[in-house]
Formats: sequence, structure tokens, C-alpha cells
Amino acid sequence: MLKIVVLISGGGSNLQSIIDAIEEKKLNAKIECVISDREAYGLERAKKHNIPSILIDRKIFKQNLFDEIEKVIPKDIDLIVLAGFLSIVSAEFIKKWENKIINIHPSLLPKFGGKGMYGMNVHRAVVENRETESGCTVHFVTNEIDGGEIIAQKKVPVYETDTPEDVQKRVLEKEHQLLVEAIKILEKNLKKR
Ligand code: GRF
Repeated sequence: MLKIVVLISGGGSNLQSIIDAIEEKKLNAKIECVISDREAYGLERAKKHNIPSILIDRKIFKQNLFDEIEKVIPKDIDLIVLAGFLSIVSAEFIKKWENKIINIHPSLLPKFGGKGMYGMNVHRAVVENRETESGCTVHFVTNEIDGGEIIAQKKVPVYETDTPEDVQKRVLEKEHQLLVEAIKILEKNLKKR
């Protein structure tokens, strides 16, 4: 049973995909805690499913944000999942939890990744660039923003008539599948050790 913590900043639809997979017995994992760095509907999702959750406000803790987050992460956690989490992870936190932090990004990295490339900014850039495909990536988190080893990706077509919102919707559907599949891959690897 994989023990995970999920970090969010927004609606939490990726969090919901993990919750659903666990409840449908498609994922052998337990969410020990959901942590948000701001007010987020994802915290409501956690509460609805009786999952411990906490708001650790980035505006209050500023550069000490991850010192505070560290305090609520159980020591025996197997995996920390950034699911729509927007704060930049501190180098100390990454060092402490090296190779145990993953992130889902709404593009086919390394394309359209890096500083400032999050949410709609990604899909706007894809449309402006007249890409014919896009997608999503789950990768390990390192000090290089969106630069860690890629675990899994899923592609979607992009049509000339697409708006950034059209691309976002098509990619988000795939994110929900990809995130669960990526956690399953890691769960299998952990079992082999
Ligand atoms: C999604 O676009 C995801 O790619 C990105 O954050 C956005 C919000 O996700 N990582 P969620 O609905 O809060 O999970």
C-alpha cells in the first residue's frame, strides 16, 4: 500500500482522479494528507472523502512555506504528488524527499515547460505555436522546474480551430488517467525493491 501526500493549489480534479482510483480499488494507495498552499476547492474534495487536509498559506509562510509543509508530512510517506500545485518547491525539501516527489504538467515536456509555464499559459503557447499535438507529463521533481526524469506521458491532437480552452479540456481528461497510471508504475517499482 503506497502512502501518499497530495499537494494542491486549485480545483483538485487531479486529486479527485487519485481518490476515485483508490475507492474503486484500481490503485493500491492511501492518501495520508492533502495540503494546499492557498484556499482551494480541492480541500473540499478531501473533506468529502474524509481525507485529512490542511491549508498552509504561502502568503503567510512565504519563504518558510516548505518548512511548514515538512511538519505535516508523515515520516514514512512513500510518495509526494504535486497535483496542480503552483508554489516552487524549495531545494531543501527536494533534497530531503529526493526521487519521492512527482508532478503532473499539462504539456509534452520538455516542450512548454519551465518558469511561468503553468495552467492556461501552456495551452495558449501550444495554440500560438500552431502545434498539431499536445498532452501531459508526469515527472520526478528536481531543482530544475519541470526538468526531472519523465515517468509517463499521454498525447492529444491539437486542431487548427482549437482555442486554448479546447486544448486544456482535452489535456485535463488525459491528466486524470495519466496521474493514476504513473502512481501505479511507481507502486509496482516500490514492491520490487
Ligand atoms: C491542471 O491543468 C494541471 O495540469 C496542472 O494544474 C491544473 C489544475 O489541476 N498541474 P487540478 O484540477 O487542480 O488538479
